[in-house]
Amino acid sequence: MRQLTSLAIAALLAVAAACGTVRTDSHSEAARPTIPMPTMAETRPADLPGLHNVVRYADNLLTGAQPEGEVAFETLAGLGVKTIISVDGAKPAVELAAKHGLRYVHLPIGYDGISPERKAELARAVQELPGPVYMHCHHGKHRSAGAGAAVAMALGLTDSATLVERMKLSGTAANYKGMWACATETPRLSAAELAKASNEFPSVYKTSGMVDGMVAIDVENDHVKGIEKAGWKTAEDHPDMFPAKASAGLERALRAMVDDGETKAKDEEFRRLLLASADAAKALDDAVKAGQGAEELSALFKKVGQSCKDCHTKYRD
Ligand code: HEC
Repeated sequence: MRQLTSLAIAALLAVAAACGTVRTDSHSEAARPTIPMPTMAETRPADLPGLHNVVRYADNLLTGAQPEGEVAFETLAGLGVKTIISVDGAKPAVELAAKHGLRYVHLPIGYDGISPERKAELARAVQELPGPVYMHCHHGKHRSAGAGAAVAMALGLTDSATLVERMKLSGTAANYKGMWACATETPRLSAAELAKASNEFPSVYKTSGMVDGMVAIDVENDHVKGIEKAGWKTAEDHPDMFPAKASAGLERALRAMVDDGETKAKDEEFRRLLLASADAAKALDDAVKAGQGAEELSALFKKVGQSCKDCHTKYRD
């Protein structure tokens, strides 16, 4: 009996030792950065495998373009990054990031500026989640630059003049006034203000409810309006928006409402009208991608507008 016990203890110790060794090894491997972080002194954005337009905004904060392919997540892990924050609308590659030990947080923003609530939420995420943090939008030029500047200002990590220079380096277009204001007009947040911000830190952001969803749909609809006004081309005052991005965004926003809880609470006719509207946006998106002429596109966009009215007349007005 005594022998059995000591054998069992010896076996347990061996297992514990093995586990300990394995854990220490894999941990130190993951923790050791193998790619040097771009510095604050860099005069051009870094271009790394799968990761473009990378600019440092603070000690613990990089911004850049959307990670491209699995290699991008290897690069991020190699830089020592622990948390990725997407401010883009597209659904982030959460599983791929997790495979490389990286956490994704998804807090999308528009091009007009960032609300004080969202700034506080982004700042809280950067402060509380393990760093370094990689913050990205699509191209890494406008929205992630504004968001990076807002966070650095809100947390007092970097001064305003340096952040304006950082945004120039990222390539933020002069027209995005709301983004530039992030570097010049974001107040420093107190600990109490930060504590009030949401710490849900969703890995995939969901609009909640009809009003949120409609506001998102309206933003996308305005993008298409701007594109139409420019003759179905990228408008001068919104260089990051191109026709296929706007039309796809409108369809996506409408489609997203189909699964919303508040839609499910409505009747079958409401759902039918919502799907009809999403289908109208899909027809426009298909035509944009097929390179159809301005007249055809405007006719299809008019149909989308009619589909919005069809539902509003019945369910809103
Ligand atoms: C299937 C029904 C339906 C469709 C389709 C629809 N909407 Fe709505 N929309 C609503 C309802 C219902 C509300 C009112 C929400 C509320 O106040 O609770 C609303 C509200 C709005 C609002 C006001 C949001 C606010 O701030 O209160 C805007 C803007 C809007 N919709 C834009 C659009 C646009 C643009 C489209 C088409 C591209 C569209 N909607 C398609 C049902 C619809």
